[in-house]
Amino acid sequence: MSQSPIIYIGDVARFDGQKAIFKAWLANRRSSGKVQFLNLRDGSGFIQAVVSRADVPDVVWEAASRLTQESSLTAEGLVRQDARAPGGYELELTDLQVIQIAEEYPITPKEHGAAFLLDHRHLWLRSKRLVAILRIRHEVISATRRFFDERDFLLGDTPIFTPNACEGTTTLFETAYFDQTAYLTQSGQLYNEAIAMAVGRTYCFGPTFRAEKSKTRRHLIEFWMVEPEVAFADLEDIIVLAEDLICSIVEAVLTNRREELEVLERDVAKLENIKKPFHRLSYDQAVEFLRERGRSIEWGGDFGAQDETALGEAHDRPIVVTRYPMAVKAFYMEPDPERPELALCVDILAPEGFGELVGGGQRIHNLELLRERIREHDLSEEAFSWYMDLRRYGSVPHSGFGMGIERVIAWICKLDHLREAIPFPRMLYRLSP
Ligand code: 4AD
Ligand code: MG
Repeated sequence: MSQSPIIYIGDVARFDGQKAIFKAWLANRRSSGKVQFLNLRDGSGFIQAVVSRADVPDVVWEAASRLTQESSLTAEGLVRQDARAPGGYELELTDLQVIQIAEEYPITPKEHGAAFLLDHRHLWLRSKRLVAILRIRHEVISATRRFFDERDFLLGDTPIFTPNACEGTTTLFETAYFDQTAYLTQSGQLYNEAIAMAVGRTYCFGPTFRAEKSKTRRHLIEFWMVEPEVAFADLEDIIVLAEDLICSIVEAVLTNRREELEVLERDVAKLENIKKPFHRLSYDQAVEFLRERGRSIEWGGDFGAQDETALGEAHDRPIVVTRYPMAVKAFYMEPDPERPELALCVDILAPEGFGELVGGGQRIHNLELLRERIREHDLSEEAFSWYMDLRRYGSVPHSGFGMGIERVIAWICKLDHLREAIPFPRMLYRLSP
């Protein structure tokens, strides 16, 4: 290899007409006897290298001939703009060094079943589709962080080992913690509330664990959640915060990840339509809405996946559903002063039937009421005594929410299943790879 610069395919436009070196894998190839076309990928993009029998030394021609799918290599050549080439550039290959000749690659261009691809997830990640999803995931996460950072929210991190439940005891993962029992966190909320009392506006972003025994397209056992918590904020304040957050994430993906949305064949017009105001319904109105569409639903129950789908499919923007019955919500929810059987809570459902993106609300700030709720929910007062302290020392109304990152990605990318939205999904019957 010569002294040419080593570059990424993604930067190729800056090297038009120059020689450059690429470190890459062979995605696929075709040959016409005298010319071999090598489709190279390096994670930043794809480029076609043209190897001409007449122009390269025999060793280079032979090295190119030996390359199997996914073999790794170093390639040198002349970068040339070419309108017909997929990325707009082609590489006229002059030198080639093999790093490794790949064994027969299990994933071929033919169709593979879902189980096969999940078993080979560590390799399937290299597909154009998964790379596009991962890039969008990155964009969703950085847009989320930017959103809160720009609004002076302080990132406080909450523990993963916790001594008690936040979102009910049925989905807790238990683990030994020396001579005690610990649970993997279901939500950073309770700790976030303490941090909000210290810094005013906070958020946490991390992995969350739920031992959900149901096998659905919308549930992961391990998922990532961003949770803001704001002192002195009421329900309306955090609804506006959530709407703004969702709009700015969609905008960031539309601005920075067009190509990836194209790879996924996403109808971007649907995303361009995501603007405030979102549709608003009270729980009562949502029940009414569902009944009018022939769904039999009892007042007082939580919405099932199909109800959420029905609500979402009927709307072109996210749907903000407020004031669910207390009975279906967690112990910490502030009651509606006008109808105490309702909680001052909010769920935001995705359009196009992708289910709940956001869940949150206003928290109880009165010590006596909180104590009552802890008792009613059969929770240990002792375990929650630190949490009750927040109502003893300068208690204020406060609110927050949680947004599941994979739910947002699945909606933005229009994925059939949440498992596509994370590199290595943890599901009811899958712990490997
Ligand atoms: O509605 P959830 O359970 O709310 C809470 O955990 C609150 N403590 C959050 C808060 O107020 N700080 O979960 C919040 C969001 C859901 O709206 C959904 O997007 C996502 O987390 N989520 C899941 N995502 C993937 N797989 C699962 N099993 C999920 N469960 C919840
Ligand atoms: Mg919820």
